[in-house]
This record gives sequence, C-alpha cells and structure tokens, in this order.
Amino acid sequence: MLQIENLRVVYHTGNEALKSVSISADKGEVIAIIGRSGAGKSTLLRCINGLQKPTSGKIVLDGEEITAMNQRQLRDARRYIGFIWQEYNLVERLPAITNVLTGRLGYNRGWHSLIGYFDSSHREIALQNLERVGLMHRAKFRADKLSGGEKQRVAIARAISQEPKIVLADEPVASLDPELSQQVMADLARVAREIGVLTLINIHQVELARRFADRIIGIAQGRVEFDGAPHELNDSILDRIYRFDQPHISQTLSA
Ligand SMILES: Nc1ncnc2c1ncn2[C@@H]1O[C@H](COP(=O)(O)OP(=O)(O)OP(=O)(O)O)[C@@H](O)[C@H]1O
Ligand SMILES: [Mg+2]
Repeated sequence: MLQIENLRVVYHTGNEALKSVSISADKGEVIAIIGRSGAGKSTLLRCINGLQKPTSGKIVLDGEEITAMNQRQLRDARRYIGFIWQEYNLVERLPAITNVLTGRLGYNRGWHSLIGYFDSSHREIALQNLERVGLMHRAKFRADKLSGGEKQRVAIARAISQEPKIVLADEPVASLDPELSQQVMADLARVAREIGVLTLINIHQVELARRFADRIIGIAQGRVEFDGAPHELNDSILDRIYRFDQPHISQTLSA
C-alpha cells in the first residue's frame, strides 16, 4: 500500500531533516512513529501527503507515485489521505456533524459541492462515523463547545469519512491529559482496524505506542533506527532512538 524509498529532505536552511528513509507498509497496519523532537517525524508525514517536496527519494501510495505529482494531482490524491492534527483543525463555529461531512468533500460533485449541500448518502456515512467514535449525541454541538477528547474524535470521524487509503496523525494526543490520551489512541487504533486502513501515528509517549500500535518505527536524526514489533523495542534500542548526541547542541551547552 505504501512504499517509501531513500527519502531525503534538506530544508532551504540547509537542515537535513530526513537522510535516507525507506519504509514499506501494508493495508490495515497501525504504525507508531517515535523519536526525539526534531528527528524528522512531521517532515515524513508532510512528504507523504505532498505538503513537503522531498529533495530526493520516492513515495508510492496504492500504486501512485506521490513524489511525481503536480499540484493538481496532489490535491486529488489528498482526498484519500486522512490527516489528524494535534490541534484538531476543526471549523470551530460549525456543528460536529458538519465538520465530519467536510471529509466527504472529495466525493461531493457538481453544484452540490458549490453550495455545501450533502445528500443523505453522505450524511449517513458521516453519522455512522460519528457513532463509531461514540459521539452521535454530540452531532449538533458546535465544535467549540466540545472537549479536547471529543474534538479529536470528531477529527478521527472526519478523516475516516474520506474513505482514506491512509490516515496520518501527527501527535494526535499531545494536547490531551494522560487518561484522555489513552482513550483517544484506543479509539484511533480501534477504528483504523475496524475499517482496515493503514495508519501512521507520530507520538511522543512510548508506552502508548507500545500498547496500541502493531508496529513501531523509531526515527533518530533523520534515519530509521528501529522498525519492528512493539515487543522488540527494548531499552538499548530506546537509548539509540533517544540518545542525546546532536553535536551542535552539546557544543552549545558546553560552551
Ligand atoms: N519548514 C522548515 N524549514 C526548515 N527546517 C525545518 C522546517 N520544518 C522542520 N525543520 C527542521 O527539520 C528537522 C525535523 O523537524 P520535524 O518537525 O520533522 O521533527 P519532529 O520529529 O516532527 O519533531 P517534534 O517531535 O518536535 O514535532 C528539525 O531540525 C526542524 O527544525
Ligand atoms: Mg513533529
């Protein structure tokens, strides 16, 4: 479903955020991506949905090469890529259900899409997905009246309403307290498995990654340091992923 080959990203600042990342993943896998701040996790997700153009390397999603697409093709491809942000990215003044319906925009054609009208088939999918995340009773609540955990569940329902080929979540629980973080991670992993969609989750809490993912990828300084099952992630591997050996920082500290 997803092949990433020798992905390299050098930002205009000269910062080499990804060095040579290769990953391949199948439909239905729930993968946690862990690593220090600045390791390159967000850069990786941004490359997959085409927001960041890599310096070199290749990304193929469901047989289509993302890295070879022009802007229009990327816009089309993004209809099938669900994205979940740390800060939810909901339209605050709109009800939960309408936020979920925006996940159907890619399927709403012709004049319907111009006036924001969604017929009953779309509304049914949106309601089903709100139900999947246990928020049917909040359907008519404005997004700004929801709690953080509820907002992130609406974002999950929106992402899966896209009927995505892949869901990318960049620190989806970083704004939530520990208990809600667990619940929202559990929901995200459960929903991903129910619909069998490949899901990549950037996350800082190793224990949540271990508990909810099928596979963990550890990134350190722009390289894949570990790629395996949660039970294979031992302390010495964690040390390698999180070691503090960025020369420019240690020099600054010792100066
Ligand atoms: N737009 C940008 N321009 C220049 N450098 C950038 C840009 N975005 C990220 N970087 C740098 O690239 C490196 C990787 O950043 P990235 O945001 O991918 O890390 P991350 O693993 O997601 O970190 P965090 O856990 O803090 O979110 C960092 O050194 C960062 O400063
Ligand atoms: Mg990040």
